[in-house]
Formats: sequence, C-alpha cells, structure tokens
Amino acid sequence: MTQTIDVIAIDGPTASGKGTIAQRVARALGFHYLDTGALYRLTALTCLKAGIALDDEAACACAAGAMEPVFDMGRILLAGEDVTDAIRAEEVGVAASRVAALPAVRAALTALQKASRRAPGLVADGRDMASVIFPDAKLKVFLTASAEARANRRFKQLIDKGFSANLADLTRDLLERDRRDRERTVSPCVPAPGALVLDSSELTVEETVDRVLAWWHASEH
Ligand code: DC
Repeated sequence: MTQTIDVIAIDGPTASGKGTIAQRVARALGFHYLDTGALYRLTALTCLKAGIALDDEAACACAAGAMEPVFDMGRILLAGEDVTDAIRAEEVGVAASRVAALPAVRAALTALQKASRRAPGLVADGRDMASVIFPDAKLKVFLTASAEARANRRFKQLIDKGFSANLADLTRDLLERDRRDRERTVSPCVPAPGALVLDSSELTVEETVDRVLAWWHASEH
C-alpha cells in the first residue's frame, strides 16, 4: 500500500550536502525526512561501544537489526541516550563506511528504511535510495560537489559542532571513503539509472533546494 506514497530519493557522496538539502526539500513540501546515513552511523557507534569488530559481518548485522532508534524533533535517541552529536564524529563516519560495505548489515537495515515511507511523502537521503531501497521513487537526485567543496563543508560542520578538525586529514579521509563507498560491490555510491545529477559546488543551499523543487514540480506533470 505504501507503494503509492511519493518518495524523493537524494543520493550522493559524503558531505555533498544531502542532509541539508533533503531536510529543506521535505520541509517545503510537508514531507517526512529520512537520514539513512544516520542508521549506518548508529550501527557503527553501537559496534564501537560494544567492542564488535567492524569486519565481523554477522555480529555487526545483529547489532544493526536490534537497534530501535527514535528520531524526535531533530534529535536521535538510541537506547534512551541522545546520540545526535556523537554519531557525527569523524571516527564514527569512517566506521560507518566500513560497516556499510557489509551486505548483511545493509539487509538488516532495509526494513527500518522502508517503514519510513509514510504519507504525505518522504524525502530520503543516502547512497542507495534510488537504486535499492526506493527504486520506484518519483524523483531521483544524485547530489555531488567537488572533493574540495565537500571537505570544506565537513570541516565547518565539525567545528560548528565543537569537534576539532584538520582540513588535510579530512580531505584524505573523504577521498578514502569516496573510494570505499563507490567501489564496494553492494549498493555502490554511483548515480542510479534515471537519476538527475546536481553538482552543488558553485551553488548556495537555496539555489540547490530550488533546483530540486523545480524538478519535483516538473515530475508531477
Ligand atoms: O551520509 P553519511 O556520511 O552520514 O553516511 C555515513 C556512511 O554510511 C557513509 O560512509 C556511507 C554509508 N551509507 C550507505 O552506505 N548507504 C546509505 N544509504 C547511507 C549511508
């Protein structure tokens, strides 16, 4: 039944601005918003805390499947603890990219993602929204930006959150994660067939949101 509910899929590499753009598009349309990167980060945080090796596929998948995160007014609670900021740490992001390469982890997180498809519509951001989770999404956007622009954005994001950060280290980590996300065999981070590619390197947030909304309104006719 949920198949009839509209989905806008926004995929793209790390720090491409997917979260900001997806949230603003969702707000503009009165749609729900799903941050699937947060699910992989939550899995990574759970594994790191429990001392589960990040290459122990069965144990990582088990941890992923057992999570019951609560998304409430922009905060994320896991087992009653507010982990909104903790999952944004770069160390957690790097660990997330490792557990995300494990097929059993991806499978364990599928139901949670599909259950977010609720009326009046959903804007979902991630890597495989358009290809695997919501292949029938009405609009598919692949949002990207140059590595330099993304490293600068991530740097600012971390500093704003009170983390220490080093631009050179971030750029190196980002390129390494890009490679891992793009080259993995399951759900690689590449534009899905039918996805519209949007390079936001030279665009403001408003311009990027307007472009997506224009595509959305065009897709409705
Ligand atoms: O978007 P992000 O940086 O919060 O994502 C964290 C990691 O999770 C990223 O390295 C790739 C992975 N991820 C994924 O494989 N599939 C998704 N749908 C979302 C994120």
